[in-house]
Amino acid sequence: MNHSYPVLSPEEAAALIKHDEIIGFSGFTPAGAAKVIPTAIAEKAKAEHAAGRDFKVGVITGASTGPSLDGALAKADAIKFRTPYQSDKDLRSSINAGKTHFFDMHLSLLPQYVRYGFLGNLDWAIVEAADVSPDGKVLLTSSVGAAPTFLTQAKRILIEINARHPKELLGFHDIYEPESPPHRRPIPICAADDRIGTQRVWVDPKKIVGIVHSNCRDEVNDFSPVTDVTTRIGQHVAEFLAAEIRNGHVPKSFLPIQSGVGNVANAVLAAMGDHPDIPRFQMYTEVIQNSVIELIKQDRCSFVSGVSLTLTDPVLQSVYDNLDSFRGRLLLRPQEIANNPEIVRRIGIISINTALEADIFGNINSTHVLGQKMMNGIGGSGDFTRNAYISIFTCPSTAKDGTISAIVPMCSHMDHSEHSVQVLVTEHGVADFRGKDPRERASLVIQNCVDPSYRDLLQEYFKLTENGHTPQSFRSAFAFHETFLKTGDMRNTQFSSQI
Ligand code: COA
Repeated sequence: MNHSYPVLSPEEAAALIKHDEIIGFSGFTPAGAAKVIPTAIAEKAKAEHAAGRDFKVGVITGASTGPSLDGALAKADAIKFRTPYQSDKDLRSSINAGKTHFFDMHLSLLPQYVRYGFLGNLDWAIVEAADVSPDGKVLLTSSVGAAPTFLTQAKRILIEINARHPKELLGFHDIYEPESPPHRRPIPICAADDRIGTQRVWVDPKKIVGIVHSNCRDEVNDFSPVTDVTTRIGQHVAEFLAAEIRNGHVPKSFLPIQSGVGNVANAVLAAMGDHPDIPRFQMYTEVIQNSVIELIKQDRCSFVSGVSLTLTDPVLQSVYDNLDSFRGRLLLRPQEIANNPEIVRRIGIISINTALEADIFGNINSTHVLGQKMMNGIGGSGDFTRNAYISIFTCPSTAKDGTISAIVPMCSHMDHSEHSVQVLVTEHGVADFRGKDPRERASLVIQNCVDPSYRDLLQEYFKLTENGHTPQSFRSAFAFHETFLKTGDMRNTQFSSQI
């Protein structure tokens, strides 16, 4: 049966949402995030609080979102819990003040957590779309994320039709939801460009209680320009991969690339595009940033499969103005498929992600500043790293004008263990951990990756104890962090002579 959906204002839509309900919002980065309804929900929350009533909702998304969603709801103190990833400064402050419960999750797991009911029952899906047909076929916009699962699992649905996204996006999405165990079958992707699903999400139209029209930009911020440090990191990664082709570890035809989020990731991709010995390559990744579109335009990247077009306004517009030239070269998938460990292992992905902190043995902290404060979350880095053909982490060797060494004796929080991390790259060089024991790894890191101003200190730490497979000193393992908290500069560290 064909339905016509009530057209609501954002305020009318927000009025339907009740305290304590759980909402699955579209959005994977600000791309494709619901915008006008969450902003109206934030206003409703403020009014409820002013009237002395409780109003908070559980907020589940694909990944981070923008100021109209996370920002507005956090400022209105309207978030009861949040998962699986965020990068908004107000929300981050609320999480780090212990006011918002935040579950930091591997992004591939989020949709099945929702299907299995691990996060409670979803009351609402609030999803941005380019179009919705009367029989309930939803054409998503610049991201897929977990929106298909929210749409199929939620009791009721509100759709934001955002006029910024053209209906010609039909064909750029590949929607597929695996069955739950014990009925799950292999996911039939054997190459980055395999299509396995539908172009739109199919929902029961009776669940759609209203649509709201909007015309909003995706709120993706510009990246910081590449610096000397990020350029050198990129060059080391590109040269390392070119050598892997020469020595036969990586096939001449190359393997699909996954590249993480942020400024360093952007610079790494640019350097790979510039390297003469890296062949034209495919990407099977999560976030498609500006640099990827540049590589497609230069014909250095032949195909990219991802979850979101996280592009600044002019770059997104340049894609939309030339959709036909990107058709067949760009595909958006659910995060459950893009980040799926089964596929990552099968197709042999080379993963490149950014660390906040690494230790001399190759353990990685991607999430917690000084072990305590949440930055963004683990995102998809674990999905890819644990299952990659080659897993690479990059980071500048220092932060905050050299007062912090990104390489420490022991990570203050661990997201990726030495068992999953194969290569570490800073602006100073590469440590290749494959086939190396912890002592050999530590020597390589200190020699190749550490900033010269920290090399002697880390060498001194390494010599404190000569015992064990992984030599550690309990007294001094966190001396860098303690010294920074006391003096504001890790370079002042003095190790205790006792272990
Ligand atoms: N201790 C304290 N602060 C540190 C630090 C350290 N060891 N290392 C970096 N920082 C600070 C930087 O100074 C900077 O601070 P500022 O924002 O005040 O300037 C901030 O952390 C971000 O650093 P930057 O170098 O700009 O990083 P980036 O944009 O390349 O992002 C991550 C790096 C780690 C934050 C980001 O990649 C991330 O969130 N990763 C986890 C999720 C992920 O990997 N997703 C991809 C999977 S597909």
